[in-house]
Amino acid sequence: MSCLSFYLENMRMPESERALKRAEAQLMLKGKLIKIDIEWGWANPVGGFMREEEYLQSLHFNCLRLSDDSFVNMSLPIVLALTTKIRRQSGASPNVGLVSPNGDLVGILRSVQVYKHNKEERIARTWGTTAPGLPYVEEVITPAGSWLIGGDLEVLEPIQHNDGLDRHRLSPRELRKEFDRRPADAVFAFQLRNPVHNGHALLMNDTRKRLLEMGYKNPADDVPLDIRIEQHSKFFLLPISSINVLEDGLLDPETTVVAIFPSPMHYAGPTEVQWHAKVRINAGANFYIVGRDPAGMSHPTEKRVLYDLDHRKKVLSMAPGLEKLNILPFWVAAYDIVEKKMAFFDPSRAKDFVFISGTKMRTYARNGENPPDGFMCPGGWNVLVKYYESLQVE
Ligand code: ADX
Repeated sequence: MSCLSFYLENMRMPESERALKRAEAQLMLKGKLIKIDIEWGWANPVGGFMREEEYLQSLHFNCLRLSDDSFVNMSLPIVLALTTKIRRQSGASPNVGLVSPNGDLVGILRSVQVYKHNKEERIARTWGTTAPGLPYVEEVITPAGSWLIGGDLEVLEPIQHNDGLDRHRLSPRELRKEFDRRPADAVFAFQLRNPVHNGHALLMNDTRKRLLEMGYKNPADDVPLDIRIEQHSKFFLLPISSINVLEDGLLDPETTVVAIFPSPMHYAGPTEVQWHAKVRINAGANFYIVGRDPAGMSHPTEKRVLYDLDHRKKVLSMAPGLEKLNILPFWVAAYDIVEKKMAFFDPSRAKDFVFISGTKMRTYARNGENPPDGFMCPGGWNVLVKYYESLQVE
């Protein structure tokens, strides 16, 4: 089965065949994609946008049932919304041509099925709340059409972002090849949305140490970086700052692969982290790091976090359909003002630790202030500072 992805892996089709398919797609009813729609990837066994059966399984069981009656975890529905006009026309067409946000005909959705988009139910089940102010809901779900269209995806053109980062947009097959080349006998995944700092590097390096102690000879880490392209151009900095962390010697380039994780960020806490972990199995990982508050956010209307800080770890270690992945839970890392470095928080000397949140880090960079020594490698910090300076120039 093909994997839902607009990445190169789907492009093994010979040019002659592609030309025929393109001509065929020209005659089809067309559906326009938005940026979010082309960000999904690594989603095997999902072979396109979900039809109603898959959608219901994902929404209600967080899992998909396979033909051999086994289950794989799939906690986020991957769906394509339609406008009412297209919906009316689509009744008569089994296949629909897909047009990218910049107007290129990039794919075909085959044997389509149209079904109702019950937004409230989708929101409540994914986030556990319908409180106003959830970013993904406001930007993607609320403005979307009231119908969803599912079907098998055939990619005609690879999506290239041409932002200098396409070399980090690797398919699961390419990642697996990279891990074999090293050669790694264990692969651990670290999901990072924020600009990387030394606390993150501590988690990754500590994982490597733990795996070496467990008897693995060459554990490699996969550092997927999710760029929420449509929201904040600042996220484009992420891979670059991470590479600086490699260059500054905080992470070993021989055992570290930096890859962009193709997935729109939902901030749906325990539900979303299952998806983050599941797709890392597709990409060849067998260990997954989970620290403090991944995919978390503040409650949009109340003064508290939306999800219990420990629930991600607990849910991941029990999630059905994720048995193949070893979950590595971590305690919170904070800046140790005595040792002048990022370290695991020691409650017995709590006053020696400072918590530097992503927001605080951005505020330092924006105001041209330096964070404490040892919080971030100088190369990585410079990238952030320069970025904020460039914003001020504009
Ligand atoms: S994401 O899931 O929303 O992409 P984020 O970028 O905040 O996560 O963090 C990446 C990873 O680092 C997550 O596993 C998160 O739990 C972990 N993490 C971030 N900050 C800390 C910290 N101070 N201590 C421990 N783990 C942390």
